[in-house]
Amino acid sequence: MKANEKQISTTVLVIGTGGSGLRAAIELAEMGVDVLAVGKRPRNDAHTSLAAGGINAALGTMEGDEGDSWQQHAADTIKESYYLANPHTVEIVARGAAQGIHDLERYGMDFAREGDGRISQRFFGAHTFRRTAFAGDYTGLEIQRSLVNRAAQLEIPILDEVYITRLLVKNNQIFGAYGFDLNTGTRYLIHADAVILAAGGHNRIWRRTSSRRDENTGDSFRLAVDAGARLRDPELVQFHPSGIIEPENAAGTLISEAARGEGGVLRNALGERFMERYDPVRLELSTRDRVALAAYTEIKEGRGTANGGVWLDVSHLPRETIMERLPRVYQTMMEVQMLDITQEPIEIAPTAHYSMGGVWVRPDDHGTDVDGLYAIGEASSGLHGANRLGGNSLIELLVFGRIVAHAAATYSAGLEAQPRSATALAEARAEIDDLLTADGHENVRALQRAIRNLMTEHAGVVRDEEGLKAGLAKLHEIDERMAQVGIHPDIAGFQDLAHAFDLKASALAARATLEAAVERRETRGCHNRSDYPEMDPSLQVNLVWSPTAGVVREEIPEIPEEIAELIQHVSTVGKLVE
Ligand code: FUM
Repeated sequence: MKANEKQISTTVLVIGTGGSGLRAAIELAEMGVDVLAVGKRPRNDAHTSLAAGGINAALGTMEGDEGDSWQQHAADTIKESYYLANPHTVEIVARGAAQGIHDLERYGMDFAREGDGRISQRFFGAHTFRRTAFAGDYTGLEIQRSLVNRAAQLEIPILDEVYITRLLVKNNQIFGAYGFDLNTGTRYLIHADAVILAAGGHNRIWRRTSSRRDENTGDSFRLAVDAGARLRDPELVQFHPSGIIEPENAAGTLISEAARGEGGVLRNALGERFMERYDPVRLELSTRDRVALAAYTEIKEGRGTANGGVWLDVSHLPRETIMERLPRVYQTMMEVQMLDITQEPIEIAPTAHYSMGGVWVRPDDHGTDVDGLYAIGEASSGLHGANRLGGNSLIELLVFGRIVAHAAATYSAGLEAQPRSATALAEARAEIDDLLTADGHENVRALQRAIRNLMTEHAGVVRDEEGLKAGLAKLHEIDERMAQVGIHPDIAGFQDLAHAFDLKASALAARATLEAAVERRETRGCHNRSDYPEMDPSLQVNLVWSPTAGVVREEIPEIPEEIAELIQHVSTVGKLVE
């Protein structure tokens, strides 16, 4: 044992204290199972707190929308995933959604309500009915608060600001994780029967992103892959149409889809309502991939603003609608630009927002290739395919939080013994020791920036083979420079060490993304290949990536009849207008 190392044992370790991690931890605690949750950010400020516009369930609460059903929710999700979502995963989420909302009510979530107490539901893009429940445009913050409160009632132990560097595995079986405290550097050796990975996705590896500096750097992907798991569809990354452009340090910050859901209009610099050209029926409430591509195309073809954006205008809406339903957008724009959205339009451009691919998991229990390792939320894959419906990620974590907790508890209960590996532990310790003595001339933050630049240049909204391969060549150079990093924790803490691990994660996530993007030689949803502008039916498969096997195709199961018959045809004419 090391002098500055704490040892803890638990039954289930949850890595990540955002919505999915906390929801799973709550279920475990309610079952009476020993659980520990660990997060690299303070629990009140986990990434879920940034989620804005809403959470989906076919509650049919609004007048005229009584016909909504879980089957229709599933049909919309599959259709808008461009048939890459796993129908079984989709069915589980759509069927379980109402229970997920009920759980939140039980934890005290303050949903927006109609005068008679019904939960209000708003339109989000490409949903057949209003099925997005919300709390202003602070829905994620309110969910996170409710989960944090419930976790406190249950006295769930939570370690804030602890960075997990490795999962501990012996013979493909998990036995815990290793990490360090971001403030003191104290090491943590955590033994656990099962581990639930809920540490987000990889959208921070693009330059303009809706994630903050140390969020979504691909940690889950690296931890899982190093442990022996695989990734599914890493190339499928959602670019949200509306990210702030200025100032530079806030670039990419999200302007919620709720702004369009409440009636916001998109215009180019010529004043044209350009969605009339790209999706004349659904206009601004088209799917995210189409609205993002439309905005990108307007900008690329010279009809954008001087700063390289388009306008999102809500100033025609009643002031009280903005204050009640879009308070965060109002506050954010006042704060970052001193812009009053009740009077003026917002300048926006696409921003990397969500990893629709992630760690490969089984649909039923979100178990991975590694025994005892589960993944959930943005870390996982299966629900969204090539285009995620806004509001589906929040409901996914509520539904699968419950399911994964039961799966992990059952797995633990069935164990005869927990394996340990002194070699695995020694490697985890040595990895940190080596980085702490690294004194090379390369700066980890500068290398992270180099990855973000190359992903933006070579794997953005529109891609092609030449660009993707050039991106891989640049990544190779960065990999070589990574051997020369210098790590310098200081009196303020061990953030530099964390950035070094973030960098490793970002490099792995970038490689997986670029390699899978090369292999997906078609245009489908978020993945626009200018050299392959059509959808290729033979690529209606998932692409599964590992460092050893590269990219392997995986068949997608049949869609159940009762869902398939509800899928509506929507024309995609005019999609790639380049
Ligand atoms: O625009 C939004 O409010 C984002 C919602 C989501 O990504 O689900």
